Amino acid sequence: MLTVYPILEKNDLASKVYRYVIAAPDIVKKAKAGQFVILRLHEGGERIPITLADWDMQRGTVTLYVQAIGKTTTMMSMLKVGDFLTDVVGPFGLPSHVEKGKTFVAVGGGFGIAAIHPIVRANKLVGNKTISIIGARSKEMIIMEDEMRAISDEVRIATDDGSYGTKGFVTTILKSMLEHKEPVDVVLAIGPVIMMKAVSDLTKQYGVKTLVSLNPIMMDGTGMCGACRVIVGDTMQFACVDGPEFDGHAVDFNLLMARQKMYSPQEKISMEIFEKTCRTQEHRETAAW
Ligand SMILES: Cc1cc2nc3c(=O)[nH]c(=O)nc-3n(C[C@H](O)[C@H](O)[C@H](O)COP(=O)(O)OP(=O)(O)OC[C@H]3O[C@@H](n4cnc5c(N)ncnc54)[C@H](O)[C@@H]3O)c2cc1C
Ligand code: FES
Repeated sequence: MLTVYPILEKNDLASKVYRYVIAAPDIVKKAKAGQFVILRLHEGGERIPITLADWDMQRGTVTLYVQAIGKTTTMMSMLKVGDFLTDVVGPFGLPSHVEKGKTFVAVGGGFGIAAIHPIVRANKLVGNKTISIIGARSKEMIIMEDEMRAISDEVRIATDDGSYGTKGFVTTILKSMLEHKEPVDVVLAIGPVIMMKAVSDLTKQYGVKTLVSLNPIMMDGTGMCGACRVIVGDTMQFACVDGPEFDGHAVDFNLLMARQKMYSPQEKISMEIFEKTCRTQEHRETAAW
């Protein structure tokens, strides 16, 4: 039987970030905080990993937040309610490890805000104190503020331009907390690699346990292709099966950043060709993806 995954809801949230609610009853049954799916828009399309931001057992739906940054995510941004994804496979990755009796500080930037959401909720459910630090370039790019407030004891916001919350980066807030000796047992950071590195460098100075959820290039998601290999401490790990969460103090972030850019020339060409073929709305609607 051919299974397809209909888009039931779609919202345009902030600059190039989209929220999708997709019917995927087979995924929902197994979904745990910290896991991700790999989706394809069409037969022969690229496989892209996207974190499970939320799910609804009753409706059999998953909620994804996708930032349109390249060809596939831009194509996805053009889909409408009622359109279908060809594959949504998963969940992949180890669930987030939740320890009881902790003050848990989650730091999210960009799509990382959506990615910390289920993990903060899982910590709240076991009785941990949860503090969420969320950041973006400016106010309109902050996503999921209400959802984060609903599951966090405190939400602190940073914007680069100072248009909302503290002016500065998420690390500006975290640094102030650590300097003022606010209790922090565990920090989790998810977002751009440069942000996760900055958080890990900071917390290392204070000896605070820090987890990061790594986003290397992935293909199969099953530990077979080796695309997602990362170095953590002295060992090579596959983020799709050994992670995506790792000890931030042991990750080789420079290697991760270099490997993420491995296909940049091809990705650029692919986007240029796509933009040319989809220059008119008519083309957009009829393009053979
Ligand atoms: C575990 C995991 C969870 C993720 N969760 C989310 C999420 O919830 N929301 C979100 O917006 N993004 C998420 N990403 C990133 C997302 O997968 C990439 O942005 C997407 O694959 C880019 O595809 P593209 O064709 O649009 O862009 P491209 O132009 O092809 O690539 C742009 C950049 O995206 C990265 N990228 C490209 N292909 C892949 C790939 N197959 N796997 C991983 N990274 C890739 C590379 O760094 C690349 O330079 C996640 C990545 C991982 C590994
Ligand atoms: S994506 Fe292939 S080994 Fe992880």
